[in-house]
Amino acid sequence: MSVHAERRKVTTHRLSEMKLRGEKISMLTAYDFSMAKIVDQAGVDVILVGDSASNVMAGHETTLPITLDNMIYHGSSVVRAVETALVVVDLPFGSYQGNSKEALSSAVRIMKETHADAVKLEGGKEVIDSVHRILSAGIPVMGHLGLMPQSIHKFGTYVVRAKEKDEAEKLISDAKLLEEAGCFAIVLEKIPSKLAGQVAAELSIPIIGIGAGNKVDGQVLVVHDMLGINQEFSPRFLRRYHNLYSEMKGAIENYVHDVKSMDFPNEREMY
Ligand code: KIV
Repeated sequence: MSVHAERRKVTTHRLSEMKLRGEKISMLTAYDFSMAKIVDQAGVDVILVGDSASNVMAGHETTLPITLDNMIYHGSSVVRAVETALVVVDLPFGSYQGNSKEALSSAVRIMKETHADAVKLEGGKEVIDSVHRILSAGIPVMGHLGLMPQSIHKFGTYVVRAKEKDEAEKLISDAKLLEEAGCFAIVLEKIPSKLAGQVAAELSIPIIGIGAGNKVDGQVLVVHDMLGINQEFSPRFLRRYHNLYSEMKGAIENYVHDVKSMDFPNEREMY
């Protein structure tokens, strides 16, 4: 029997069991049906419909322009492809900060219109009212601390976060607040490995890292980055598993050549 034949639907409860038994959690992004099918069938535990779709799919500089309607479009496309992974959809910038009622209505739209399993949002104390209100409606919430791309204009740079004591202490206290509120997991982005390990050790919910070292409970990457489709992004934490940009470009160049030279279509490719 193959490993995948016995896979059951991943739930938030199963993620906490995985943490308890020390089994690492794999998480990747996906934004469309075809990619989500591959990611799910490959055995990834959690699929994140990240607001990084703003960069990767739409070509924006930041994650700020993507709308709730855009996220719902991406989320519902992904959910239609997925059989096993837990699907988490990002709440986009402006849909949950500062107004917990609006946060709840954004989260409800995501759950109703995409059929995803959970939502993710960035921030700690500043958004805790929104977290409480969303959770009170029975919607699972994943937190996101450390480098928070939706706050890029506040920080002005994508450098490693929480290297200084004050910021590290705030991150730990925010992580504890999110756990106490009832979040089922937290993503820690681009922070020192030692700090991420401390958070993972002190909290009982799973901590998923991106650029946060190997002492956490799981890893997440943007699928276009790890497949080498996007070549313009090379942070130290990124491991490239393929060079799909070159492979795809080469294949398309061959197609262009075959059309121009009238090699395609040949007799067997016609009706
Ligand atoms: O939007 C996204 O892809 C993310 C990951 C980088 C964690 O939030």
